[in-house]
Amino acid sequence: MEYRRLGSSEMRVSVIGLGTWQFGGEWGRAFTAAEAAAIMARAQELGINFVDTAECYGDHLSESLVGQALVGRRDAWYVATKFGHRYAGHMQRDLLFSPREVQDQLEASLVALHTGAIDLYQFHSGSDAQFDNDDLWTMLRKQVEAGKIRHLGVSVSSKGDPAHQIQRARDVGATVIQIVYNRLERGPEARSLPACQALDLGVLARVPLASGFLSGKYRLGETFTAPNDLRSGFPPEDIQQKLAEVQRIAESEVPPGVPMAAWALAWCLQHPAVACVIPGCKDVMQLELNAGATNLVDKAHPLAIT
Ligand SMILES: NC(=O)c1ccc[n+]([C@@H]2O[C@H](COP(=O)([O-])OP(=O)(O)OC[C@H]3O[C@@H](n4cnc5c(N)ncnc54)[C@H](OP(=O)(O)O)[C@@H]3O)[C@@H](O)[C@H]2O)c1
Repeated sequence: MEYRRLGSSEMRVSVIGLGTWQFGGEWGRAFTAAEAAAIMARAQELGINFVDTAECYGDHLSESLVGQALVGRRDAWYVATKFGHRYAGHMQRDLLFSPREVQDQLEASLVALHTGAIDLYQFHSGSDAQFDNDDLWTMLRKQVEAGKIRHLGVSVSSKGDPAHQIQRARDVGATVIQIVYNRLERGPEARSLPACQALDLGVLARVPLASGFLSGKYRLGETFTAPNDLRSGFPPEDIQQKLAEVQRIAESEVPPGVPMAAWALAWCLQHPAVACVIPGCKDVMQLELNAGATNLVDKAHPLAIT
């Protein structure tokens, strides 16, 4: 495994992290505590030391599965979670961004995660109005002083202006940015990633497999029908457009014999701003394949961003 410094923090994170939205049950299946623990244990063996979860992947459900798996191995992991939402049914969320609500969520996350401190606590896909709340950040910095949070981060999304939230991140006390970045979503290369580099903000690339489309296992014409798989809600024409693009990339960019999922993760890690990719994974086989991407990263420019 390769490790990179996460922005100006002291955290040296594995370039391959572990995303755990899947553990919340919105990706077509539920997970038992034993399944989640097996994934985390194997991840640790492979040198992975960064896990990302959130308050609303199920009602603290993903956090709870991660927390149970962390018992006895907490020191081996950097644990990242988020605030601002409450799970309200499949793909439905209540918004909870007031300081009081976030403080209550923080306590619930600490309990679910079986930990006394969260390594990275991230503002979760909020609007600029929700972000520009000095009282919220003052409360959060007090939690840092109290030792309940080690670092603050901002998970930017189209619900706000990423440029605005990145520029203000340091002012509010945040040192890490989480952003969608993958071979199909290159928008951040224009402004967001250079701004993070200029401000020495650590970057976590989320959705690095484009919700699984860049895994290479889906062909043109594929449909997602399981009602509890969030992809069943994606517009069908968008899915087909993405799959056509994936097919073109598979034929023209992925070297023969290289698994597309590993290639896609290594592709993200070529960008000098990116410290860590956090692919969601559903079983140990996927995890092992994703961890193998680290072998593609070190070779001299094997992927060449085009
Ligand atoms: N707003 C936010 O802050 C936010 C939003 C989204 C995600 N995230 C974080 O980012 C993480 C990653 O994003 P994501 O999970 O949405 O998307 P992703 O990582 O692009 O795709 C994950 C999916 O790809 C498939 N997959 C993974 N590894 C594979 C492999 N080796 N071979 C074949 N298929 C593989 C699995 O689904 P199938 O096997 O079913 O295809 C898996 O559920 C999340 O888990 C979460 O921690 C944060």
